[in-house]
Amino acid sequence: MDTRLIAANPAEVETECLVVFALDHATKDNANKDVTKSNQASKEQPKPEPRLAIKDGVLEKAVAELVASGEVTGKAFETVLLHRPQGLKAKRLLVVGAGKTKSFTHAEVRKAAGSAIRALKPKAIKSCAFLVPDLGSGAEDAVRTIVEGALVADFDPDTYRSDRKDQSVKEITIVAPAGADQGKLQNAMAQGRVIGESQNFTRELVNEPSNRLTPTMLGDRAKKMCDTVGLKCELMGPDKIKEMKMGAFWSVSQGSDEEPRLIVMRYDPPGAPEKPVLGLVGKGITFDTGGISIKPADGMEKMKYDMAGGAAMIGAMRAIALLKPNVKVIGIVCASENMPSGKAQKPGDVQIAMSGKSIEIINTDAEGRLVLADGLYYARTLGCTHLIDAATLTGACVVALGYANAGVFANDEDAYKHFTTALQRSGEKFWRLPLDQEYLDQIRSNIADIMNTGGRWGGASTAAVFLKEFVDDTPWLHLDIAGTAWMEENKSWIAKGPSGIGVRSLIEFVRSFENGK
Ligand code: BES
Ligand code: MN
Ligand code: ZN
Repeated sequence: MDTRLIAANPAEVETECLVVFALDHATKDNANKDVTKSNQASKEQPKPEPRLAIKDGVLEKAVAELVASGEVTGKAFETVLLHRPQGLKAKRLLVVGAGKTKSFTHAEVRKAAGSAIRALKPKAIKSCAFLVPDLGSGAEDAVRTIVEGALVADFDPDTYRSDRKDQSVKEITIVAPAGADQGKLQNAMAQGRVIGESQNFTRELVNEPSNRLTPTMLGDRAKKMCDTVGLKCELMGPDKIKEMKMGAFWSVSQGSDEEPRLIVMRYDPPGAPEKPVLGLVGKGITFDTGGISIKPADGMEKMKYDMAGGAAMIGAMRAIALLKPNVKVIGIVCASENMPSGKAQKPGDVQIAMSGKSIEIINTDAEGRLVLADGLYYARTLGCTHLIDAATLTGACVVALGYANAGVFANDEDAYKHFTTALQRSGEKFWRLPLDQEYLDQIRSNIADIMNTGGRWGGASTAAVFLKEFVDDTPWLHLDIAGTAWMEENKSWIAKGPSGIGVRSLIEFVRSFENGK
């Protein structure tokens, strides 16, 4: 998708389709004022008061009838298409609801822009122009998020369908508001592009089935990306993994005929401060059968997405290489299959991690924490001062938070603050879960230092404290994206399938450390 920026009067924009956002200005207070003349129902649901998110007389006139008819309400992500809009040079006008004025932030802009693209795609409309809404946080934020939302919405996961129609929107134009700083908006547009494309790159990887994306192939894809954007990339196989005594990582890989890969991507900009060095560590299980503790057949095909944490790191590293923040970053992906076989590890086995800690394997399906234990420890040996990992780690996290929020764990308040700042820019939803010492009691072993599972209760937290054993005092965040990396339903702004969760927050997290902050 091409992106371009122009400065023009809305009425003058020549385009297949002009896109404008509409907001609902009605508030509960307004409704209460009406209480004398309205019934109970309208008291609870105030009548919509739709208004365009940009002040323009000609546009208002063009949509006046649609508004009067009640077809445009401003309700979040409703789309209404008007042909030959009066007084405009555009062939069509798409009015996209963006919800209540009060809750109108760039998170809504992103989704509204996405909804526009997904409404236009099936109509084979190949280009459109977005009018930048008046947003509290400024036009730059609006431009960046429109571009992010449009790119993410353009993605469909039907890679291997023979009847795949290429319905991609080929070009979007951003119509800058009068008097805006064009240079700054160009920059915001370029950023949005890098971020949206990187998220889609991650989604492409996550979408691939395990026969088309083995650990070896994931390594090759990462290497190719690194070569293109100018990152150093090192790929290590079984020999090196064993030589470095990554006993936890290897214990997962030993059962598979496919070789594991330890992928190390380095972003080391000249002139960056010595510290911090951020370590991004991802779980890259290209297929999780559960191993000897094998999973039920029902739904097992989903376990091709068990590398979503690793793919998020690869996508984030791509964006970082292109956005060039002034901070050192190392991306590490532990890629492996988790298979049952005559060589597979068995419940009761004891493994020695790279850190020297001994682990009793209770359930071979708790493999993500094993590969990450060595990945996190290895990151510290490379000099990382801050760690963040992402993993489709536990079903328990899905039970706790459902599909709406991913889990985040933190052992350091300052690092957590960086992350919440990042969330404000990324618009992704994470909910903090506890990491108390008590959970550690659940994973003490009789024969070894720790066990790889902690019983039925608090499974997301027992997995997190397991990881904590390998990061020690290094400031660290753990993202459990098991419930959010794959979407079961289409949304108006994004296709179902791989979501690319984490990529945008990881990018913003890294940027929040720029220049030694
Ligand atoms: N990859 C799974 C977790 C998962 C579950 C991801 C659902 C996405 C959706 C992980 O390796 C796993 O199997 N975890 C086990 C741990 C248990 C054996 C302690 C789980 O959550 O059931
Ligand atoms: Mn598993
Ligand atoms: Zn897994």
